[in-house]
Amino acid sequence: MSYFRENIERMVGYVPGEQPTDPKVVKLNTNENPYPPSERVLATLASVNAEQLRRYPDPTAVMFRETAANVLGFSPEQIICGNGSDELLNIATRAFVGPQGLMAYPVPTYSLYRTLAHIEDAGFVEIPFGPDWSLPEELYSTGAKLTLLCNPNAPSGTMIETDEVSHLAKKLDGVLIMDEAYVDFADNNCLELVDKHKNVLILRTLSKGYSLAGLRFGYGIGNRKLIAGLNKVKDSYNCDALSVLLATEAISDQEVMRENARKVRDERERLSERLQAVGFEVPESQANFLLARMPAGCALTAKQLYKQLKERDVCVRYMEQTHLADCVRITVGRPEQNETLLQMMRQVGVEI
Ligand SMILES: Cc1ncc(COP(=O)(O)O)c(C=O)c1O
Repeated sequence: MSYFRENIERMVGYVPGEQPTDPKVVKLNTNENPYPPSERVLATLASVNAEQLRRYPDPTAVMFRETAANVLGFSPEQIICGNGSDELLNIATRAFVGPQGLMAYPVPTYSLYRTLAHIEDAGFVEIPFGPDWSLPEELYSTGAKLTLLCNPNAPSGTMIETDEVSHLAKKLDGVLIMDEAYVDFADNNCLELVDKHKNVLILRTLSKGYSLAGLRFGYGIGNRKLIAGLNKVKDSYNCDALSVLLATEAISDQEVMRENARKVRDERERLSERLQAVGFEVPESQANFLLARMPAGCALTAKQLYKQLKERDVCVRYMEQTHLADCVRITVGRPEQNETLLQMMRQVGVEI
């Protein structure tokens, strides 16, 4: 006998990437930014006083929404804040889908989408990406209440062009969530679609581009009606006072975010070339990670490579999902971290 709803009893639950605590581990497994956040964020953190902690936070994070609206060219009423963009995905599933509702998304992608469907006891349609990670035609006609498109996609890093996304948004009856968690490392984004399509909700995070994964802060941008509806579903105080304060400082400092993203992008190209030179198949990434398919004829499987790197204190991500069993996903680190990765790969028998 179980106390849980049947769907909860049946489901497995999302398995986050490992978080090793040993500082000597070269951690390239959960797509954190390898560079520190803006100094201004740290200075603001140091100035926090007791009164800011004694009081409840602002329920709708006006300070952040006004600043972000200014930076991005929207109005504060078009923005909602969340405890990481994961929380906003959760709120959106509850708000738009519900039990027996239908969600749709191309796969392989961020596996949390399926977990959220399981929690909600919703149906889900998973449509394989086309060759070269193109948008599958079937996504246009699922009839889903919520369609999700991770762009750049995780774990491939590939991106669908804005015009194509616009076409999809126009055709869909339901809401289209663009998960732009990695967009700060990309050439383009879909912000222009917010004012073009009333069903588009863009989700962003400060975890990646702004180097604040430990803070837990994300935000969504959509039309006012969409945002007003989502506000009814969220917890009153879903973002704590510190995260609102520090996220506001972080988004005001676009220069630091851009400079860190530039360094990551440069390293991404260098690392991708090095991996491809020895036969790894690596799709063109617009994110801060690379999906590397094992070289044909390599004596190691991807799982063995992951394990042997781990024994040498280099942590990459291995996902035992269909279509990805012969791949590892590698977060782009600082140059010396990437060198260590390549050196350890050589040590375990990959001809780098
Ligand atoms: C595709 C994608 N979306 C959303 C998130 C969640 O980000 P956050 O840290 O803001 O919850 C992640 C985290 O890794 C991600 O990979």
